[in-house]
Amino acid sequence: MNPSSNLPARVKIVEVGPRDGLQNEQQTIPAAVKIELVNRLTQAGFKNIEAASFVSPKWVPQMATSAEVMAGITRKPGVVYSVLTPNLQGFKAALAARADEVVIFGSASEAFSQKNINCSIAESIERFRDVAQSAKQHGLRLRGSISCAFGCPYQGEVSADAVADVVRRMRELGCDEIDIADTIGVATPLKVHAIMQRAAQEFPLAQLSGHFHDTYGQGIANIYASLEVGVAIFHSSVAGLGGCPYAKGATGNVATEDVLFLLQGLGIDTGIDLDAVVDAGQFISQHLGRKAASRAGNALAAKRAG
Ligand code: HMG
Ligand code: MG
Repeated sequence: MNPSSNLPARVKIVEVGPRDGLQNEQQTIPAAVKIELVNRLTQAGFKNIEAASFVSPKWVPQMATSAEVMAGITRKPGVVYSVLTPNLQGFKAALAARADEVVIFGSASEAFSQKNINCSIAESIERFRDVAQSAKQHGLRLRGSISCAFGCPYQGEVSADAVADVVRRMRELGCDEIDIADTIGVATPLKVHAIMQRAAQEFPLAQLSGHFHDTYGQGIANIYASLEVGVAIFHSSVAGLGGCPYAKGATGNVATEDVLFLLQGLGIDTGIDLDAVVDAGQFISQHLGRKAASRAGNALAAKRAG
């Protein structure tokens, strides 16, 4: 706990820019640029970077270079490089790529499950079982991600019971960490309190993470609300990159620079160098040919430029 408040004293940020951030970009981004981005993020001090995704290239073409990216990055001891693995085929690729953590990704919404991974929630859990067992056999960390925990672009409302049900099933699969994800950015703080508290009845709070998209500008408020519950792991994207190809209109993850600015102000330790993240954000934004979507990142870059 932070002595000046009831908030956690330390937070882990999982930087998801190289995967969630880039997966929805229309222009093909060369593997060398992705590698440079991951290397910059490693240097900035992240202990966990979601670097790639071993999904069908027909479904998400941008992630087709994932093996090349994983082979090209300069790894730092102690840093966990995570990749998405929807099935055993993805797991095998992840193993060959020497990923440290594999992520099974399901949904609290039946409709989104069908659109995103082409099967029902129950079928997805069966597919994940093989991945989970293989991850354990090979000593890899296993993370579970639950999309549409606060609302779904296809079915609308998603109940707290539906979220809790998937949390329980992912716990039974042996997940080391579980992400409660706001895929389309519709959550607001009171809902965050309710869903996080409900999820924490099924899984240890210290291993739950908040994955917020900033579509409606609520990302920072929702992180603060999660901190009030005691959540101490958050996902964010450098420069606010991102969006899901199967959630139309959803914009990027909450920007890492904004989250770090918030946490610094609260006196919460992350071990990450904000200036280096600002540089990484400017690097990838220049490559994409647009201004970063991070308010704090742009403000800090402008201040530096004088
Ligand atoms: P399917 O078509 O039902 O799969 O797709 P299938 O098993 O019938 O296989 C069909 C073809 O896909 C075959 O190729 C397989 O080899 C290939 P073909 O014989 O036609 O040439 N295939 C694969 N190729 C590479 N890697 C694999 C793989 N698996 C099958 N792992 C599948 C099912 C799950 C594969 C597909 O629906 C898929 O790839 N979906 C991924 C969707 C996705 O990546 N969405 C974005 C990530 S989730 C997200 O962003 C949300 C998150 O950020 C949290 C939040 O914000 O909510 C995590
Ligand atoms: Mg996401």
